Amino acid sequence: MATNRTFTMLKPDAVADGNSGAIIKLIEEAGFKIIALKKTLLTPELAGKFYEVHAERPFYGELCQYMSSGPIVPMILEKENAVADFRKLIGATDPSKADEGTIRKLFAKSMSANAIHGSDSDENAAIEGAFFFSTVEQF
Ligand code: RTP
Ligand code: MG
Repeated sequence: MATNRTFTMLKPDAVADGNSGAIIKLIEEAGFKIIALKKTLLTPELAGKFYEVHAERPFYGELCQYMSSGPIVPMILEKENAVADFRKLIGATDPSKADEGTIRKLFAKSMSANAIHGSDSDENAAIEGAFFFSTVEQF
């Protein structure tokens, strides 16, 4: 079912570099409404749970370590066609391959420190949103 919602997380590099405000501005200018937002920290165990789908991938350990290295800003966003439009806005996983004007082209430094996460399906958006926010926070 299409929910018109997606989930995103500003990664430790974006938060540490003071880019949270600039990135949130781009997200809002692109027409996304912020449904829920907070600043928090993942333990390596929680990062492991969040990225469980990647558990068999060679970069899993590095990914979990990186994602728990500093504060992050998870958010639930709403817009028509949210998941696909947001993936377009953030750009390719590898910043050297990201299109001009995308958030990763503008702010990402490497494959790990790539500034931002975006859900890849409506189903995962709902699961990932529920990982960080209670039902009442998703008003
Ligand atoms: P994300 O889930 O964070 O939005 O990123 P994505 O969909 O564009 O990429 P995904 O394949 O889901 O990978 C999750 C994160 O793992 C890191 N990664 N490293 N070294 C590597 O080959 C590699 N591949 C992926 C990236 O930080 C990626 O965002
Ligand atoms: Mg992904």
